[in-house]
Amino acid sequence: MPKDPHSDLPAGPRHVAIIMDGNGRWAQARGRPRLFGHHAGAKRVREVVEACPDYGVKYLTIFAFSTENWKRTQVEVAGLMSLFRRYISKEARALDEEGVRVRFIGDRVRLDPKLIKLMDNLEELTKTNEKVHLTIALNYGGRDEVARATKRLAQDVADGKLRPEDVDEETLPKYLDTQVLPDPDLVIRTSGEARISNFLLWQSAYSEYEFIDTLWPDFTAEELGRLCQGFGNRDRRFGAVKI
Ligand code: IPE
Ligand code: IPE
Ligand code: MG
Repeated sequence: MPKDPHSDLPAGPRHVAIIMDGNGRWAQARGRPRLFGHHAGAKRVREVVEACPDYGVKYLTIFAFSTENWKRTQVEVAGLMSLFRRYISKEARALDEEGVRVRFIGDRVRLDPKLIKLMDNLEELTKTNEKVHLTIALNYGGRDEVARATKRLAQDVADGKLRPEDVDEETLPKYLDTQVLPDPDLVIRTSGEARISNFLLWQSAYSEYEFIDTLWPDFTAEELGRLCQGFGNRDRRFGAVKI
């Protein structure tokens, strides 16, 4: 991978965000129920997280469940919620030992209290880790996030803590769920769909995108490496003209 001229780190993306799509089709291709695909998908996460330091990726954000995914059958939604509970309980220790700091973004209001407790505990357990920052988007929607942020911002204005004339591009992100996280440099979507499905709408304004055909349960650390390498060769202009 090319080196960043200003540091010893590879010139790869510092923050990678992944829309982990294709679990259902992966299972269907094997004649198995969709949940089988979700379980296989969950198993891929550890390898990908652990590979991040090799490619200079400090922040990894993964889309696990969208605000729109409640539209699925009750069986699939319940199965996913139970998978999240099991996944957190089972993986907490390993993630902590690997130096991973875990955060969750999304609206917790609709989530089961038992799941919320596990999420809180994992955030607390890993809060001093800094090798990799893993953010899990659970009941997350970009529009929902902006709406919730705006509600809190409006409340601060109503309470006299913020003046409308002071609201700018620096103010709003402080109210978003992502708060301290840098914007994603690279957004990857697996499974061949070329859309963002309400993921990180504000934050990905200048992200590079990679839409790949691999179904999420087949995604590997090597593939992440290849995409990070490709990122290093891109010319990010942010609206300016380079001379
Ligand atoms: C992504 O896989 C996981 C979630 C949305 C929870 P899908 O379940 O969307 O898989 P496909 O797109 O139906 O193959
Ligand atoms: C996006 O995938 C959400 C997650 C990966 C969690 P979907 O499968 O829900 O997106 P659409 O419905 O194809 O847009
Ligand atoms: Mg899908």
